[in-house]
Amino acid sequence: AKVSSALCTRKCLLVIGCLLLLLCGGWLLGTMFWLHGPSSQQPHRPPPPVPGRAANSTAQTPVNDSAAASRREACGRTPEAWRFDCYPERTVVVTRELCEARNCCFIPAAAPPASKKRHQNGIPWCFYPADFPSYSLASLDKTLLGQKGSLVKEVKTYYPGDILTVEVETRYETDSRLHVRITDPSSSRFEVPIPVPAATKKAENPDYAVEFSKQPFGLIVTRRSTGTVILNTTVAPLFYADQFLQFSTSLPSPFIYGLGEHRSTFLHDVQWNTLTMWARDVPPMTNLYGVHPFYLSMEEGGTAHGFFLLNSNAMDVALQPAPALTWRTIGGILDFYVFVGPDPGSVIQQYLEVIGNPAMPIYWALGYHLCRWGYNTSNSTWEVVKSLRNSGIPQDAQWNDIDYMEHFMDFTFDSAKFGTLPDMVQDLHAHGQRYVMILDPGISSTQPEGSYWPFDEGLKRGVFIKDAEGKTLIGKVWPGLTAYPDFSDEVTHEWWYDNLRRFHDKVPFDGLWIDMNEPSNFLDGSTNGCPENSIEHPPYTPGVLGDLLRAKTVCATAQQKLSLHYNVHSLYGLMEAQASRIVAKRPFVISRSTFPSQGMYSGHWLGDNRSQWKDLYTSIAGILTFNLLGIPLVGADICGFSEEPQEELCVRWTQLGAFYPFTRNHNAIDMQPQDPTAFSPLARTAMKQALLLRYSLFPVLYTLFHHAHLHGHTVARPLMFEFPKDVQTYAIDKQFLWGKSLLVTPVVDPGVDQVVGYFPESLWYDFYTVRPDFPGDSVRSKGEKLQLAAPLDKINLHLREGSVIATQTPNLTLWVSSGQPLHLLSALSDDGSAGGDLFWDDGESIDTYESEQYAYILAVSPQKVMTSQVLHNHTEATFIPVASASFYGVKEKPSQVLVNSQDATFNYSDNQVSLGRIESPQNGNTEGKAVRTKCFKG
Ligand SMILES: *[C@@H]1O[C@H](CO)[C@@H](O)[C@H](O)[C@H]1NC(C)=O
Ligand SMILES: *[C@@H]1O[C@H](CO)[C@@H](O)[C@H](O)[C@H]1NC(C)=O
Ligand SMILES: *[C@@H]1O[C@H](CO)[C@@H](O)[C@H](O)[C@H]1NC(C)=O
Ligand SMILES: *[C@@H]1O[C@H](CO)[C@@H](O)[C@H](O)[C@H]1NC(C)=O
Ligand SMILES: *[C@@H]1O[C@H](CO)[C@@H](O)[C@H](O)[C@H]1NC(C)=O
Ligand SMILES: *[C@@H]1O[C@H](CO)[C@@H](O)[C@H](O)[C@H]1NC(C)=O
Repeated sequence: AKVSSALCTRKCLLVIGCLLLLLCGGWLLGTMFWLHGPSSQQPHRPPPPVPGRAANSTAQTPVNDSAAASRREACGRTPEAWRFDCYPERTVVVTRELCEARNCCFIPAAAPPASKKRHQNGIPWCFYPADFPSYSLASLDKTLLGQKGSLVKEVKTYYPGDILTVEVETRYETDSRLHVRITDPSSSRFEVPIPVPAATKKAENPDYAVEFSKQPFGLIVTRRSTGTVILNTTVAPLFYADQFLQFSTSLPSPFIYGLGEHRSTFLHDVQWNTLTMWARDVPPMTNLYGVHPFYLSMEEGGTAHGFFLLNSNAMDVALQPAPALTWRTIGGILDFYVFVGPDPGSVIQQYLEVIGNPAMPIYWALGYHLCRWGYNTSNSTWEVVKSLRNSGIPQDAQWNDIDYMEHFMDFTFDSAKFGTLPDMVQDLHAHGQRYVMILDPGISSTQPEGSYWPFDEGLKRGVFIKDAEGKTLIGKVWPGLTAYPDFSDEVTHEWWYDNLRRFHDKVPFDGLWIDMNEPSNFLDGSTNGCPENSIEHPPYTPGVLGDLLRAKTVCATAQQKLSLHYNVHSLYGLMEAQASRIVAKRPFVISRSTFPSQGMYSGHWLGDNRSQWKDLYTSIAGILTFNLLGIPLVGADICGFSEEPQEELCVRWTQLGAFYPFTRNHNAIDMQPQDPTAFSPLARTAMKQALLLRYSLFPVLYTLFHHAHLHGHTVARPLMFEFPKDVQTYAIDKQFLWGKSLLVTPVVDPGVDQVVGYFPESLWYDFYTVRPDFPGDSVRSKGEKLQLAAPLDKINLHLREGSVIATQTPNLTLWVSSGQPLHLLSALSDDGSAGGDLFWDDGESIDTYESEQYAYILAVSPQKVMTSQVLHNHTEATFIPVASASFYGVKEKPSQVLVNSQDATFNYSDNQVSLGRIESPQNGNTEGKAVRTKCFKG
């Protein structure tokens, strides 16, 4: 489409006056909102090394040896925030004897840690002294891409299998990406098999500098342009033992994000907070379903960097207030990347260049999805679909949980209770709707031979995970005893595909929900237990729930094609997602367990939550974090999974959920229904409005996903990404943006009809200004908290100055609404400029961008003149004409508006111009002709 227009105005006044009311309201609540202020900043530089003799020790024990005495004195000089834990074992009460046996400093803290939470361990009583034996850099040589050095250590540590000589290699891969590998030159160790880019020549102008500390060994990375130290591993000793690899770094600020999957605030707490990573299925406060060893960290002045440890073994990430961070993993190698941004968005782009950009979702993935566990029959599932249709509530996809299956067995459906499932799916398709059902990895192993093809055939092809003795490992999940497919084997992918195809012939499903893929097991290990050895009981076990690697999963010693389960456990969901594709369209897969690069294959939902306000609130942090982790297609169970639904909560959650990139309402068995039609007419209407609003914004959301796919952008975006210099945005996780311009301010508390939101410095237009029922206006913020009206039927939405977005008249499915004409909405800056874009294709073919089967249109209006350009043209775009346009921020009524040089009828009210149907012969419908909209000074 080629659309251009010009707007002219005479005077400008009035806008500012209207806003003062809002500003005053916001000021009152101003101080309550900001929690993680920068005021608590610690000194970010490590303290100087502790000298041998110093101030008096705080240790109480009398000393009778002068060396030990001076040692203890030195220990006492290490500031508490800089004490790196020498005794992280959780099951042990650390005594002086145990600690000193490790040659570490022992200073019991005065008081026990304030919080008894598992992951908050308080100041360590036992910590490394400055002279703790570590590696030293024995040699360093230049290489094609960077340097290669040899690290040697004289003294063994207290963990078995110390590797006394290791190799460190730096690769200056791009100007913003440094790659470092620390490996064992004498034997190969497990490496994560995700494809990463291979650099062939050294970056010429890197914005990072690398230095080494020789003795003890340390790697120091600074940002060239500012001198900021972004990595300094000299702060604590390096460990490289067979099952214990550890290094620490100082952080330039306490503002650190990422490190999934955990249920927490968006900004991590650095007060002695240990985040354990090992795929596990029990929410909420422990190691969760997915593993993402990546963090984003802010620096002074708003620059940002990222760090990615490419390692899949069980690990702890310990944060401490220095601020500093320790990586502690029990296998693999130390293979990591530093990304220097310099802004948060480009850090994520650089991270995704390594792990892979997310897939472009099939269009209906962005519609409303409805699910519950316990519809019990296909007929009652169908009834709900019909009920939504009758109520005019949009729905793109209906789902079923495990109750559709016969005895919970994959690739079956209950022919009695779900006998009409194929008919229901047919009916969904006839209405432009889709069907998605759950699949668990566990395959029932107890059916009579010849009666259950998936198991019989799986055995024949040898696709199942083996125990340490080479026999099929048997665990227990929903169908009873089960075997687990080994998705690290290509043969398993073929068998899985064959199962999908056979089932698809009976029930032509459109997408897959892959659950329980940590993999989850109701037993610990297997029916036969697990061997007792150092794989099952490593010298150090990270803080996994259950204290055993095999807790509620298969044995760590289980054998997979690629490696021991010990190494590949947390890759299970990734590898299952890679196998879960069937139709020749973009696959729709939602996975519970995830690993870096998952976004290329699936989306994610945040797992089991409860129908509680707290869960509504924490879902925002979860959504934002997964957008940082390259899985933008993410959502939480709207209205809460477990516990009884509450109407007010469900309305607010549906409003918030309408802005999750992936929007699904899901409910547990035996709970009251919580689909929109289950509530009062008032609540139902509010939910319907929220969903219709989402559908009307589909062109915006779809275009954002295009940018995620193409450039590694975030879709649901933290405010700090757009305003990185504004420290006030750093902890915000009650609001978020869609892209750069739509600010969502949901209500996250019960019983209120107002909400306080932070508005970074900009001019923001109330999105509803166009709607007579919500008269709103624009607000010019200097970076303020504002109190906004939030009646039950409203979610606050603001459009940032300078943006142009395209909307469509919503309808019951995206199939229908995405064919509707576009309405262009321009939010002008003071100087009358705005810009935006639109990506459009057939919505479902694979690689439309790559094969150039798409249209891409850019709309810009510099200085009161809007022109738009077709940067890439395709037939698809001819199906969506531009029907109307609105311009916010036109301060005076124009005397005339021209569309393609012809007079157009328009409305003017409250600083905006609306053009009704653009009745130009070209009509903007992309037949290669420009539509010009012009107005003249009156
Ligand atoms: C260290 O201890 C000695 C003896 O108890 C005392 O005289 C001295 O003042 C102390 N020094 C400091 C710096 O506290
Ligand atoms: C002095 O050291 C010896 C041996 O190291 C120890 O047995 C003794 O208990 C120590 N005395 C005091 C007062 O700590
Ligand atoms: C790195 O850390 C070491 C040990 O704490 C410290 O001595 C050194 O000054 C730090 N280097 C930089 C550049 O901050
Ligand atoms: C489902 O509905 C169909 C058609 O109305 C009916 O024949 C069938 O008995 C119903 N099944 C169940 C389990 O209620
Ligand atoms: C969907 O479109 C049809 C046909 O244009 C219209 O009658 C109906 O009201 C629309 N539904 C909604 C929910 O807007
Ligand atoms: C865009 O493509 C359509 C159909 O392929 C064609 O009719 C039209 O002229 C093209 N428009 C532009 C601006 O190239």
